[in-house]
Amino acid sequence: MKSILDNRPALKAVIDDVAEVTGYLWQKGWAERNGGNITVNITEYVDSEIASLPALAPARQIGKVLPALKGKYFYAKGTGKRMRDLARWPMKNGAIIRICDDCASYEIIADEPVMPTSELPSHLALQNYLLETGSTYKATLHTHPIELVAMSHIERFLRPGEMTRVLWSMIPETLAFAPLGIGIVPYKLPGSVELADATLEQIKEHDVVLWEKHGTVAVGTDIMDAFDQTDVLCKAANIYMCARSMGSEPDGMTEEAMREVQEVFHLPKKRPC
Ligand code: 13P
Ligand code: ZN
Repeated sequence: MKSILDNRPALKAVIDDVAEVTGYLWQKGWAERNGGNITVNITEYVDSEIASLPALAPARQIGKVLPALKGKYFYAKGTGKRMRDLARWPMKNGAIIRICDDCASYEIIADEPVMPTSELPSHLALQNYLLETGSTYKATLHTHPIELVAMSHIERFLRPGEMTRVLWSMIPETLAFAPLGIGIVPYKLPGSVELADATLEQIKEHDVVLWEKHGTVAVGTDIMDAFDQTDVLCKAANIYMCARSMGSEPDGMTEEAMREVQEVFHLPKKRPC
């Protein structure tokens, strides 16, 4: 069967990376059934032939007006589709969508009319923010990392800054690679515009956002980068849980040791565009 990826090696490489990452998500146990979703901005790979592709299904509403997305193109995981299936057949378990001129709806253009993820409002709200701020980031990843979701069931970790402080103190790399920490969004209905709005507010100040009792959302230059951001924080959560299961609250790095890492590595305190 013909695919939009045929004779487009650069675009195919982006989708191959998505497929590789979805395999990791499944292996890590973060992607039960259809759990998690991905979007990647692929507009830079769009040629005149792609631009003239007709819609495969009637346009659908996003649920938000997102002006920076006008005429932009995204790969989106399909709703109800499994990450482990996407790893083998990315264009059967996801699709390319084009944002319509009203900035409020989208149409599916390739390869097949696979309906995008139910979390599209959150993904596209973040993509809109990234474009508005001139960011080079292209990918958004929502997944269900076990240890981070487990921590979000404990009231103490929902207090502002507390989870970030504990995760940073587990291993210096967490602070180095997630210098903005993790933002918390109190529980909201999956797929809702309220969840999208709250996620957007938190990503402005943090590397990764944790949806209470649900999962994480990360942004990255590409999908590997968004995966790494999540993985670094989940590793720290795993170390915390291992120490706890040995019977005591881990000591954690001292405040002084953490300040030293911040200073020596010139870590940003705000999200660079
Ligand atoms: P989708 O199958 O619609 O992508 O939903 C999975 C999910 O994790 C919802 O939060
Ligand atoms: Zn989810």
